[in-house]
Amino acid sequence: MPRKPFKVQAVATLLGISVDAVRRDSEEAGLQIERQPGDGPKTRLFSIENIYDIAAFRAKKYNLVAKNKRIITVYAPKGGVGKTTQTSNLAAIFALMGLKVLVADLDFQANLTISYGYDPELTREEATENGFPLATCVDFHLGHLLPQWQGNSPTPKLSDVIKKPFGENGPHLIPSEVTLDRLEALFTVDAIMSKKPELAIARFLAEGRSGRNKDVDLSMYDVIMFDAPPAKNQTTRGALLASDFVIAPVSMEKYSTKSVSYLAGVLNEMEVEYGKFPELTILGNFFDMTRVRVAAQVIALTKQYPDAWLDTQISSSEEFKKVLSDDEGMPLALARPSSTAAKELRDVAKSLIKKMEIL
Ligand SMILES: Nc1ncnc2c1ncn2[C@@H]1O[C@H](COP(=O)(O)OP(=O)(O)OP(=O)(O)O)[C@@H](O)[C@H]1O
Ligand SMILES: [Mg+2]
Repeated sequence: MPRKPFKVQAVATLLGISVDAVRRDSEEAGLQIERQPGDGPKTRLFSIENIYDIAAFRAKKYNLVAKNKRIITVYAPKGGVGKTTQTSNLAAIFALMGLKVLVADLDFQANLTISYGYDPELTREEATENGFPLATCVDFHLGHLLPQWQGNSPTPKLSDVIKKPFGENGPHLIPSEVTLDRLEALFTVDAIMSKKPELAIARFLAEGRSGRNKDVDLSMYDVIMFDAPPAKNQTTRGALLASDFVIAPVSMEKYSTKSVSYLAGVLNEMEVEYGKFPELTILGNFFDMTRVRVAAQVIALTKQYPDAWLDTQISSSEEFKKVLSDDEGMPLALARPSSTAAKELRDVAKSLIKKMEIL
């Protein structure tokens, strides 16, 4: 996946440091940075992998240690409110902060997987025929790693499932493709047999984070995120039950409070049944406080869920759609670091880190 390289100023913006610090740290880290071809002064061009390598180098140099490792599901039962957009951007930003991030796509429509530059519909044969790298294809998803899938096909190794779209130090991805929808059918069979399928994801994570099983070792991740589909199904319940936090993007439309109260109801049920539920965070998306309707929604939401409303929001921006249609294989926060939307996303990431006491 050849991606557009970054000039030093963009790298500084992405990492939230000075241009001098970028120069110094990339040298100290011994990174090979390309120079612009042609005559004249040769500007240095950083690949996205270079940038994440600098982030990781700095994390080590300044002894960055996560105070709490967190599992976060991004979910709202309403479609199109920005779950996938915010997941892909926030995961990318958390990793720029030097955190080890794993993000799992739980939607068989695989928009998150696509936003990171993969093509879930491309077969290996088609890739070979058209000269695309095989890594663009998606062979596995989370379902393949769960016990419910066993018997359907051999269980792959975690390392065969995980993709590293921006290199070793960028966010890692458990991708998705269309066959993930079978997982829900397998969960339903389990539910009929009273086997509590909603615990499958929590069990998988608990085992992985314990580091006991070296074939499924998730112990290095500071943040694990799930991009849930809008469906009110066993998969989303399973992700919620496994999570410490749920981020619910709210599009500030007329019925968005309804979607939050449905979610709050689900969390209540979980508390009754399991004595455990993720803490709710409401993220205003498509935000415009100057609109009366939006202001009224904010008042209603903060009144009803005083601790859940996040103090930073994401405005409406055409840039989100442009990045997708330009097919850059990167979320906006990486592709357009100096845009207003990217700045807002970095501010949201910072408030979340604080609220969730990650650093
Ligand atoms: N703040 C924003 N401003 C403008 N467009 C946005 C914003 N956030 C998301 N979008 C756009 O809205 C559309 C839906 O976003 P997204 O796919 O992230 O929603 P979703 O909640 O994941 O949807 P689904 O329920 O289908 O999974 C996308 O085209 C995305 O680019
Ligand atoms: Mg989505």
